[in-house]
Amino acid sequence: MDLFEAIGTQRAMRRLKDDPVTDEDIWKILDAAIKAPSGGNRQPWNFIVVRDVETKRKLGEYYLDAWNKVYAAGGDRAGQDDASQSRVYRSAEHLAHHLAEAPVLIIATIRGGGNAGGGGSIYPAVQNLMLAARALGLGTTLTSLHKLHEREVKELLGIPEQVETMALIPVGWPKGKFGAPERMPVEKVVYWEQWGDRREQ
Ligand SMILES: Cc1cc2nc3c(=O)[nH]c(=O)nc-3n(C[C@H](O)[C@H](O)[C@H](O)COP(=O)(O)O)c2cc1C
Repeated sequence: MDLFEAIGTQRAMRRLKDDPVTDEDIWKILDAAIKAPSGGNRQPWNFIVVRDVETKRKLGEYYLDAWNKVYAAGGDRAGQDDASQSRVYRSAEHLAHHLAEAPVLIIATIRGGGNAGGGGSIYPAVQNLMLAARALGLGTTLTSLHKLHEREVKELLGIPEQVETMALIPVGWPKGKFGAPERMPVEKVVYWEQWGDRREQ
């Protein structure tokens, strides 16, 4: 698949089929992930591939608990009245209740926390992973809610003290269709030479 087509049709795919995903495909997207840049080429990442039903169930519990704390009470729904925001909410709510059903959960971790460049040294790898998945037709979502249970998640997966989880990515064959993500037009957010100087394309 053309790279621009993959980028242009990549969006959070939160409704996944339970059809199996092969190890070969998982290796392929992880091999794309580790080609990403990182500060000083330190490659501070590790990825944990979780297929075990019981481990996924526990991760799903932590995730749903976090969802309930952050969103379900309605506290963080302010400004979510328009149709697209409520679509995102419904899809995120669905994922919160079905996380454990994804065939594979990938947890991206970083060694050395802030010293490793923080998110800047892991999210390029996560994005590579998600684009490679898109190219194969696999759906993904970058999620972070599990961070509310960082300690429990680390204990569950045997993650050492100095390592931090940065993203939990469900991977599976999507139920819906890939499509253009909703974004502000590029002309609105790009300035030329000086802040505020916009140009038409
Ligand atoms: C740092 C970060 C954290 C995110 N955490 C979550 C999350 O915990 N749960 C979730 O459902 N989506 C999460 N997302 C996905 C965003 O909600 C999603 O990318 C955004 O709504 C745009 O939607 P789209 O990717 O379909 O275009 C996260 C995205 C980023 C970049």
